[in-house]
Amino acid sequence: MSMTSRAENYRGWALAALLGVCAASRAMPATAVATATTGPADGARLVRTYCGACHLPDGHGTLARIGDERKTPEGWVMTIFRMQNLHGLQLPATVRDTIVRYLADTQGLAPSEAAPARYALERRPNVPDLRLPGDLQRMCARCHSAARIALERRDTADWLKNANWHLAEFPTIEYQEGARDRHWWREASTTVPAELGRLFPLHTAAWAAWQRHAPIDLAGRWLVRGDEPGRGAYGGTAEIRRIAADEYRATYHLRFADGKPLDGHSHAIVYTGYEWRGTATLGDRAVHEVFAASPGGRQLTGRWFLADHAEIGADWHAVRAGRGPRIVLVSPRAIRAGTSARVTIFGDHLGGTVDLGAGLRVHVIHRGRASLVLQVDAAPHAAPGYRTARVGATSAADALAVYDRVDRLDVTPAFAIARLGGGKIDPVDAQFSVDAIEEVPGSAGKPQAVHLGALPVAWSIAPFDAQAAHDRDVDFAGRIDSRGRFLPAGAGPNPQRKFHADNTGNLDVIATLAPGDAGRATPVTGKAHLVVTVQRWNTPPIY
Ligand code: HEC
Ligand code: HEC
Repeated sequence: MSMTSRAENYRGWALAALLGVCAASRAMPATAVATATTGPADGARLVRTYCGACHLPDGHGTLARIGDERKTPEGWVMTIFRMQNLHGLQLPATVRDTIVRYLADTQGLAPSEAAPARYALERRPNVPDLRLPGDLQRMCARCHSAARIALERRDTADWLKNANWHLAEFPTIEYQEGARDRHWWREASTTVPAELGRLFPLHTAAWAAWQRHAPIDLAGRWLVRGDEPGRGAYGGTAEIRRIAADEYRATYHLRFADGKPLDGHSHAIVYTGYEWRGTATLGDRAVHEVFAASPGGRQLTGRWFLADHAEIGADWHAVRAGRGPRIVLVSPRAIRAGTSARVTIFGDHLGGTVDLGAGLRVHVIHRGRASLVLQVDAAPHAAPGYRTARVGATSAADALAVYDRVDRLDVTPAFAIARLGGGKIDPVDAQFSVDAIEEVPGSAGKPQAVHLGALPVAWSIAPFDAQAAHDRDVDFAGRIDSRGRFLPAGAGPNPQRKFHADNTGNLDVIATLAPGDAGRATPVTGKAHLVVTVQRWNTPPIY
């Protein structure tokens, strides 16, 4: 089977598998969803029925190979996908979903085990992969991420079977791993599985403790904050209702600081007792949610992203609403001395006097249960630096900053990869944002960087080097929009380019802050490096 057709299979399949119940039940009343939900006994029975044809009992109450591994819901989806795709396993989608739930619950990862590689589950773009120690990095993290490995647990014997399987399935691995010049297989079949079994073993104290952990009920009212690169910070509340043992519905009342609503609703399955996977609508956008509940069940954090563009999304921090007052976000987080701005404080029980610190005069425009809208006037000589926000008896340190001039613009990510689109393959965009910084005198005479967050900048692209200028990459590789989202061009040989080259490019991405907003006589600029490369053919749930 070619990589292309496998990629196409994955694309619709993999996310649908994780969220399949949600998609299938969207039109169903909640009671239908609840009755469709199956318990652990059904999971065990279905594994025996559907997997037992090839996997024999291992004498420990589980089936050979299947009982030897623990992984994330995404990891189980990938393995079962391979059983279908390569070994001819046939099973209805509802059965597959029940099996994934059962295996993720009984053979998943503890929160602390999944934590270091969550970026891969959250599909965060342009995050450096974690580094495996010693030779493992070169042996195992060249074709796929190290995260894929760090998100599984097996003993040495099963890691060895994994190495055998790689060699059987991809015989070219020998050449790719340079086996002509070294004893690659000797290493891959001895020291590598031993090291993996030591680093990522099947039985751990963390997993044993998590299995004894009291179940978490996520139902209730939550206070939310997050930041969407290109759009800004948002805040508000979430109402979460439990509709089955491991299934929830949520209603979101969220807003950006400029008042634009980001309301929505979600339907989520919680795997392994803490892994929230939701299918949601936020504003007018279809999104997926990958959150983790904290072990105590008081926080829900992660990332949501567009269903068709995982690289576009935002982080998500939710804390349980309590009886007391609380500030979760002040936005925007900077105001220039001598100007006025509309500022929103998101939180709960925000009664009482509002004070934003020295040099800031506050006028309350609107007081809601979970937000306060303020008109704030910064005195012309207000000292630059962070301020504590106080509302009644509650406060938040360094909640906002006053500045008089911007010294620097940090563009994030500093290095990004975008990919051309073409045919059935969507492009992979790149979203940039800025953090404006003013250096103020700090303690012991050392300058202190005051982070002002995103200010309204203009975006442009330029050649990264002389070669890119000569090849006119700027004209062919794509364009950047006013929110800092780079939209790559279509793929394919381009007769307008030398040697009919593809529309790849090597670019600088430049953010420019106008003199008026920077408090300076000249504009302030910042830049990042962007490589625009060929299509991504394969989009597995974990890279
Ligand atoms: C038609 C035969 C067949 C069926 C049915 C089958 N498998 Fe497999 N399974 C295999 C073979 C062959 C291998 C070894 C090759 C491989 O790993 O792809 C394997 C390997 C595995 C492994 C080890 C994978 C690894 O990464 O080392 C797991 C886990 C697994 N299967 C789970 C399942 C589950 C769960 C089911 C039922 C939903 C299932 N299998 C059904 C044939 C099957
Ligand atoms: C030559 C490229 C290549 C190298 C090198 C490689 N892998 Fe893989 N690996 C793959 C591919 C491709 C897949 C996905 C196969 C599929 O699911 O169709 C994969 C899948 C996996 C999986 C997921 C298995 C599952 O059940 O879905 C694990 C775990 C893994 N590799 C571990 C390793 C380890 C450990 C090493 C180092 C010993 C390694 N890989 C080296 C190509 C590679």
